[in-house]
Amino acid sequence: MRRAGRWYTRNLRWPAWPHSLVNRTLMTLLVGLAVVQGAGLTIHALDRIELQRFAELRDMGIRAMSIYRSAVATPLGDRASALREMELGPNVSAVLALAPPMVPEPTQPPYVGQIRVNMNLVPVRAMNRPRDIVIRGAPWSDMICIGMQFPDQGWLILRMNLPRPRPWHSPTFLIAFVLMTVAAAILSIWAVRRLTKPVTLLAEAAERLGRDVNAPPLPENGPDEVMRAAVAFNTMAARIRRFVQDRTFLLTAIGHDLRTPITRLKLRAEFIEDDEQRQKFLSDLDELDAMVSATLVFGRDTADTEPAVAFDMVALLRTVLDDAADARPEAADALCFSGPAHLTVTGRILALKRSFANLVGNAVKYGNAARVTLTTEDGMAMVTIEDDGPGLPPDELERIFEPFYRVEDSRNRETGGTGLGLPIARNILRAHGGDVVLGNRAGGGARAVVTMPA
Ligand SMILES: Nc1ncnc2c1ncn2[C@@H]1O[C@H](COP(=O)(O)OP(=O)(O)OP(=O)(O)O)[C@@H](O)[C@H]1O
Ligand SMILES: [Mg+2]
Repeated sequence: MRRAGRWYTRNLRWPAWPHSLVNRTLMTLLVGLAVVQGAGLTIHALDRIELQRFAELRDMGIRAMSIYRSAVATPLGDRASALREMELGPNVSAVLALAPPMVPEPTQPPYVGQIRVNMNLVPVRAMNRPRDIVIRGAPWSDMICIGMQFPDQGWLILRMNLPRPRPWHSPTFLIAFVLMTVAAAILSIWAVRRLTKPVTLLAEAAERLGRDVNAPPLPENGPDEVMRAAVAFNTMAARIRRFVQDRTFLLTAIGHDLRTPITRLKLRAEFIEDDEQRQKFLSDLDELDAMVSATLVFGRDTADTEPAVAFDMVALLRTVLDDAADARPEAADALCFSGPAHLTVTGRILALKRSFANLVGNAVKYGNAARVTLTTEDGMAMVTIEDDGPGLPPDELERIFEPFYRVEDSRNRETGGTGLGLPIARNILRAHGGDVVLGNRAGGGARAVVTMPA
């Protein structure tokens, strides 16, 4: 059985067990509240029943002794008829007998005590006192039998039926109970929502940080634990920011400092007499210059100085395609867009434009076409850029994201890139909480797939 239970909890989800922390805590609290209220109600009911019983037993003791007093004062021969005429009260029957009552259940001592104490409250002359008193029957079985032995002869047997206990009789109690339960439930809901809010805020802040390292810090207030978590989170975000800034600063500083010697070398190259050598030297220097420029652009893009704004992704993609068509009018017919009319996303618009421009540019440059498709799914926008080129060697799909890496034939084809476009594009997209992967289409050609939070 235990194994089966474990299997159940491991492999199936209990359908009623909620997913969110708020609902789990609430459910636990409310179930706890129900159990506590149930236990409280039971204790209250038992207590009230007990009290009612004691009150009835007290009344019963007095009534029994009063009936006995009237009976014993009547001569022996008239007792039976006197009893019949006597006003016994509700739920009481009396008979005369020669033996004590034969009811099997005994009466617990506290009840016996209660009845006897109250019997003593009725004054009876010493000579008339009962020779013996037998009390049988449990109050829980709703019947008590009292036998009192007359001093002369026989027993007076009284059967007294107890009314059913009614612990919920008081309407004020029920109203108070319902009000209390509702108030406790409302308070629990309010408290749980309030207490778990910081967890939601922290999750949102982590999400924001993933998209934008410069996201505003969390407010450092609230209870001690929440404040400590917020301070720790802000410190972590600041460290990440500093780390990224230091690296980019170093990169741009190197790029910047390389420019002067390159310019100097270009000037000196003019003095090389061999024309062919000079030309080669200068073209190498141009390539180096392009690499340094691209490095500086990379530094500028990752410096995150541009603010994140909401903009229309469709408009951005169309602009990128138009620019590509202007740059390569002969490929304009192979550029197309399909997707919704508008899609608003938040991000650094210039940086994103640069990354899409590179992806579309690559498709046109290496694949002579760029078919852009925009779709949305589960809060993510997906942009696919397909071309008709040779595609990419499968084992280089990841390497082309390395800085300055270029596939061998594109180097030979003099397409004139630096190999920094893809790493920059990926860097920008990842800073927005998205990503880009490259692959090959089944029918030939490459496919770049960009995902981004919409
Ligand atoms: N759609 C594509 N089809 C085939 N090869 C591609 C495609 N996109 C990229 N590549 C290969 O990946 C390499 C790296 O691309 P990346 O954009 O990083 O640099 P680049 O285009 O050469 O230079 P730039 O820095 O000017 O963008 C390219 O040189 C090319 O060989
Ligand atoms: Mg490129």
